[in-house]
Amino acid sequence: MSTRRPRHFLSLADLTPAELSRLIERGIELKAMRRARETHEPLKNRVLAMVYEKSSTRTRVSFETAMIQLGGGAIFLSAHDTQLGRGEPVEDMARVLSRMVDAIMVRTFDHDKLRRLAAYSEVPVINGLTDRHHPCQLLADLQTFVEHRGPIAGKTVAWIGDGNNMCHSYIEAAGLYGFTLRIACPPGYGPREEIGDAAASAVRRCDRPQEAVRGADLVVTDVWASMGQEQESHARREVFRRFQVDENLLSLAKPEALFMHCLPAHRGEEVSAGVIDGPRSVVWDEAENRLHAQKALLEFLLD
Ligand code: CP
Ligand code: NVA
Repeated sequence: MSTRRPRHFLSLADLTPAELSRLIERGIELKAMRRARETHEPLKNRVLAMVYEKSSTRTRVSFETAMIQLGGGAIFLSAHDTQLGRGEPVEDMARVLSRMVDAIMVRTFDHDKLRRLAAYSEVPVINGLTDRHHPCQLLADLQTFVEHRGPIAGKTVAWIGDGNNMCHSYIEAAGLYGFTLRIACPPGYGPREEIGDAAASAVRRCDRPQEAVRGADLVVTDVWASMGQEQESHARREVFRRFQVDENLLSLAKPEALFMHCLPAHRGEEVSAGVIDGPRSVVWDEAENRLHAQKALLEFLLD
């Protein structure tokens, strides 16, 4: 086996700004190639193992489809029916999978578990979402903005709602890509302090959602209770009530502002139906771009 350390993608900080820009451009190219029905199979016979400890629709389907379209294949491994769910250490799983597959995608709760798996893996490990980050979604979001509005550098993005994994990845993206991120979360629900360090000059905390959205080029939100926080859903609905992205709030953004949500969404909670199903919403392009952006990522890590 190779002794060279593989490139992992555990958060956006694993990429340089130049690499991130190239990935976005490549995602756009791969999308055009797919639209033209061009066959592009650089990953023939290559296999991606996908380890899931949480539910997924988009991540699973986009990675699996990406591998098939690139000429390889993907194996879905649920924690419930692998030995991981029965206590096999992730370090051992990493070493075993590395001997068989070409890359490992992991969706888990604890970011530290992902780091431990990556430390023992001899093949690239991709973060398919942890409680701390969701970097693959950011690749799709950035691609979507660039397709609709051109470069995001210098623009203003408003994050409204929970200071969760998506918010953390937006903070990293702001630092890497040079946009201003205004964050409005209820007191006590903001992003973890240490996440902002590298992007401190790009990030501004706002007390009110109106302050964050005024003049923004992009407005983004996410569920109020993430996977694993189901028991808090009721209490969170009360706390977050003033933080719904509705038509009134969105009207404060620039006239050409876009709305994004990584999905799944709860209409009537974090976003009104009028906004998510309205003319400024690009959520379906955003969801589709998971496929193209991750194809660019797989090519980058594997080819
Ligand atoms: N946005 C996203 O990651 O969706 P899934 O949970 O369906 O994968
Ligand atoms: N913040 C959400 C994102 C789902 C894609 C969660 O972690 O459940």
